[in-house]
Amino acid sequence: MKQITLQGLQFEPYISREEIATQIKRVAREIVEDLNGDEAPIFICVLNGAFMFAADLYREIDLPHSNITFIRYKSYEGMAASGDVMQVMGLSCDISGRNVIVIEDIVDTGATAAELIDFLSKQGPKSVKLATLLFKPNSLLNQVMPNYIGFNIPSKFIIGYGLDLDEEARNLKDIYILSKDKERNNEMNLSM
Ligand code: IMP
Ligand code: MG
Repeated sequence: MKQITLQGLQFEPYISREEIATQIKRVAREIVEDLNGDEAPIFICVLNGAFMFAADLYREIDLPHSNITFIRYKSYEGMAASGDVMQVMGLSCDISGRNVIVIEDIVDTGATAAELIDFLSKQGPKSVKLATLLFKPNSLLNQVMPNYIGFNIPSKFIIGYGLDLDEEARNLKDIYILSKDKERNNEMNLSM
């Protein structure tokens, strides 16, 4: 893994694909254990960022009667949270009476997760749990706590493995973090 430059910013390797795979296996085990024998839960992947995590996590869930569906929210502009959370693609199936596991790439301010959990809770599910690959506990501004966390990370901007900078870098197999020196240089221009 080597450094990457994107939009004039330097990013350094942060979490390897091997570490990601190890934590995904652990999260999958925790989810199945908590389901307590329910073989037909429904997973909801939050697009766009969570598509890669969802694909890998769901393959570790050995429950042939479970389902996966997709919902889409948008909140980020560049490297700063826009503050507004918008549902840009709704739910296409009935979740009433089901155990629901939301799959998020990252919980940052928690605005997306809070909005989403509120929306889902009104549809009569049996339970709603939140699985996130990454959690920035120091950025949290909303009353949500992920039930399953791949990695707790500092409040720094990261890219790769589904996470983007203006829709770029989602295809990186590993996760990269904004380099410290560059970050200091940009502190004047960025609210992170
Ligand atoms: P929140 O609503 O503030 O929790 O932010 C949720 C969304 O912001 C995530 O689903 C991501 O799409 C995006 N996001 C938050 N932090 C980062 C980051 O470090 N890199 C890339 N996207 C991020
Ligand atoms: Mg994004």
